[in-house]
Amino acid sequence: MRRWIPIMIAAMVALAAAPPATAGTASGTVTGTVTGTVTGTVTGTASGTTRGAAAGTTTGTASKAVDCARVKCIALTFDDGPGRYTGKLLDLLRRHRTKVTFFLIGERVEKYPAIARKIAREGHQIGVHTFTHPHLPTLLDDQIRDELGRTKDVIRKVTGKEPDLMRPPYGDTDERVGAIAAELGMSQILWNASSRDWELRDTDAIARRVLSLAKRDRVVLMHDIWPQTVAAMPRILKTLEKRGYHVVPVTSLLRGRHLAPGEVYPVGGWN
Ligand code: NI
Repeated sequence: MRRWIPIMIAAMVALAAAPPATAGTASGTVTGTVTGTVTGTVTGTASGTTRGAAAGTTTGTASKAVDCARVKCIALTFDDGPGRYTGKLLDLLRRHRTKVTFFLIGERVEKYPAIARKIAREGHQIGVHTFTHPHLPTLLDDQIRDELGRTKDVIRKVTGKEPDLMRPPYGDTDERVGAIAAELGMSQILWNASSRDWELRDTDAIARRVLSLAKRDRVVLMHDIWPQTVAAMPRILKTLEKRGYHVVPVTSLLRGRHLAPGEVYPVGGWN
């Protein structure tokens, strides 16, 4: 599962491709200095939700304009759905007024369109996780284009929102994958805290691992296709809230900065 070398190469490519100022923020720990405009325009809707600039331009809608420069944020991300347990997770997230990021698999969006629509309707951020979950670097260019493009299309068709984020399955990416993601207008989202829920498959162990890895601005990898992961979420959310965290969609961690197409975020290692 861990693929250091391609990730490091992809990270270096992303850094080399980015302007210096961008590269600096992408790799560094934020020490408290706020650069740029943070909160953006806040537009209220009838339901009381607001749209923050930090949540991204298309798929992301933050529940409130959380300013991650001022408050302690953490991003929870859920891959491989939608699935049978996603609805339960959505209900829990709604009760906690919490928005997260879902990286959806195209063929599962076709299988569970109503759940995909609900994810979008409830204001969560949606990214592409390919159509069939392959190791992208092993594919030909056109196959990579197809895996990403078809999924983007089906998400747009079903939810009405156009994703501008993708997460390569297994975190497995390289220069070619990055270039094709860029061509399709998507940046690449990895993680720096893994729940390892797919191998733990134990509610208590998943909750303990996520809470032990919880740190400001971390991006946590989870999978809503496992019932134990969804069962661990009440404790995870309650404890994170008690520790003063705001759980946010991944791009909210960027404090208003926009990722370039093909750019990898976060960079700098795994847990
Ligand atoms: Ni996956």
